[in-house]
Amino acid sequence: MTVHFIGAGPGAADLITLRGRDLIAACPVCLYAGSLVPEALLSHCPSGARIVNTAPLSLDEIMAEIAAAHAEGHDVARLHSGDLSVWSAMGEQLRRLRVLGIPYDVTPGVPSFAAAAAALGTELTLPGVAQSVVLTRTSGRATAMPEGEALENFARTGATLAIHLSVHVLETVVETLSPHYGNDCPVAVVWRASWPDQCIVRATLSTLETAVGAEMERTALILVGPALAAEGFDESRLYAGDYDRRYRPVGTHPRFPEGT
Ligand SMILES: C[S@@+](CC[C@H](N)C(=O)[O-])C[C@H]1O[C@@H](n2cnc3c(N)ncnc32)[C@H](O)[C@@H]1O
Repeated sequence: MTVHFIGAGPGAADLITLRGRDLIAACPVCLYAGSLVPEALLSHCPSGARIVNTAPLSLDEIMAEIAAAHAEGHDVARLHSGDLSVWSAMGEQLRRLRVLGIPYDVTPGVPSFAAAAAALGTELTLPGVAQSVVLTRTSGRATAMPEGEALENFARTGATLAIHLSVHVLETVVETLSPHYGNDCPVAVVWRASWPDQCIVRATLSTLETAVGAEMERTALILVGPALAAEGFDESRLYAGDYDRRYRPVGTHPRFPEGT
């Protein structure tokens, strides 16, 4: 018996991996985080499967579901939104499974920052503009930010920021970022990326609050940085016609002669 943790993707039911879909189809028990996992994914469950929305459950209650499946020898598909490596609460479940000696594995999913960038049709790392993406958030009621991870510390880098769980404190985000990125820095807020009701607002730091207005529903990402609207960026050297590389040797003395 194994608990399969599966990244369910950002919302669109076809943005799950084939492996994730096949695992759901093979498991007689499915536990899903109902607040953000699309119900359409549950259609992959085998008939007669036990399907439990864990949104209203405590960690103890979730572990009791898993322990009951373990006692029956039933594999469990455990679905969380996006990818499991960020803000999934997987860590605490895995720790308990290790103590209980219950086997598990993890199947990645499409994270919401990637779905938001796709919705914008934007590369977040442009040569000469930004070469890092910071996945971050602001403090919440349930989770404080560790010292050193304040938003202004990341803002000092000038990297592209993907700020999660923070659209309800937009004013503070704008106030914190403006001194570092400047009022004209491009920003985009993407609500429910990849869902049928996806919504996008593009603005600058100085116009963002007006552009967003009263739309404060929480499932949104704030993307900030010059890469969001840059046109005057360098082309990648990797694909330059005169760039000598292993897969396209150039010149009379290539660094990687053909066949090496
Ligand atoms: C608990 S975190 C889950 C993150 C998820 N594990 C991931 O890989 O993106 C929830 C936050 O992720 C962001 N988020 C999740 N799904 C989203 C979507 N479809 N569109 C925009 N933001 C989303 C929002 O900032 C939301 O408040």
